[in-house]
Amino acid sequence: MAEPSDFAPNSALVLGIETSCDETAAAVVARDAGGKGRILSNIVLSQFDKHAIYGGVVPEIAARAHAESLDYLIKSALDTAGVTLNDLSGIAAATGPGLIGGLIVGATTAKALALATGHPFLAVNHLEAHALTVGLTDELRPPYLMLLVSGGHTQLLLVEDVGQYRRLATTIDDALGEAFDKTAKLLGLPMPGGPSVEKAALQGDGTRFNLPRPMKGREDPHFSFAGLKTAVRHAAMQNAPLSEKTVADLCASFQAAVCDSVSDRVRRAMRSVLSRFPDAAHRPFVVAGGVAANRALRKALVDVAKEYDFSFHAPPFELCGDNGVMIAWAGSERLARGISDMLDAPARPRWPLDSEAPKAIGAGVKA
Ligand code: KG4
Ligand code: ZN
Repeated sequence: MAEPSDFAPNSALVLGIETSCDETAAAVVARDAGGKGRILSNIVLSQFDKHAIYGGVVPEIAARAHAESLDYLIKSALDTAGVTLNDLSGIAAATGPGLIGGLIVGATTAKALALATGHPFLAVNHLEAHALTVGLTDELRPPYLMLLVSGGHTQLLLVEDVGQYRRLATTIDDALGEAFDKTAKLLGLPMPGGPSVEKAALQGDGTRFNLPRPMKGREDPHFSFAGLKTAVRHAAMQNAPLSEKTVADLCASFQAAVCDSVSDRVRRAMRSVLSRFPDAAHRPFVVAGGVAANRALRKALVDVAKEYDFSFHAPPFELCGDNGVMIAWAGSERLARGISDMLDAPARPRWPLDSEAPKAIGAGVKA
């Protein structure tokens, strides 16, 4: 439990609720008058075991599981923080993008609590929450260049201010987390795929399979991972039945190709930032989202940042994946600007950060 001295008396206390995919999460964050944040509680309940036998997230099962556990998680987050509902300054929920059933569970719960307590309701964009987490952990404020890599999105963004995003690039097919998950599935590794591939890759030889580096060298700024995943499938078929060693080598080779391809795209974005803002005194580069927990990718990006004289920032590992802290913090950013939301704010399964961004040429529906 947090002690009263853990946050300054005039702090805003925000409850954050996350139910957009397969993690049910609730957290309380304190934000002092100077804008410094502090995590008072962070409770995450993963649903992996409920979806494992289906080989992927089943939306209906996810929504039911959120509904079953959310009340308990919220109580647990408040108790751990040592605060009551009445002590709060605002109640935030991720209202998009994500799976509609889960979003409705989180949004409705937050709205009911806001109505009952009279506290402001804060409708948070899940992607924005990933993007702003470094404000809490590193006290980093916009503007910054950002790579957002999760299970559903892969984007390079200019975070110009809270609520102001310019998309520089997106994936034209699979998201990076999705590519990790599909690769794990086709190699028979357990879900969630990203951590499984990373673990297997530690024992593997990343030079054994010469996999494609999608988009490398292309002027076009976007990402693509579908071809890489198919190349892994062909290599796996040619080497069947797969030994543990071959699985490890395929994972390491896949990860090496990902690091190479993503580094190339980030270099391109950094060059474009340098040409647009040649006099910028500080050039922060942020990576966030579930895949930002990948150590090999982080290391590759630290090197790219050094090469182009950008400072490197990423949330700590436990805040890369979905969590309630990031929702509470993004909610507190809105609250600090005097923004709150109406109780009829809709759940939004699709909610781009940059609604003006043109569709990437060749992109499927998700871009
Ligand atoms: O941000 P997140 O928790 O949920 C979404 O908003 O999608 O990201 C989940 C994704 C999954 O695809 C998962 O496999 C991937 O992040 N991921 C990783 C690692 N940890 C999670 N991918 C690669 N390496 C990891 N260590
Ligand atoms: Zn996420």
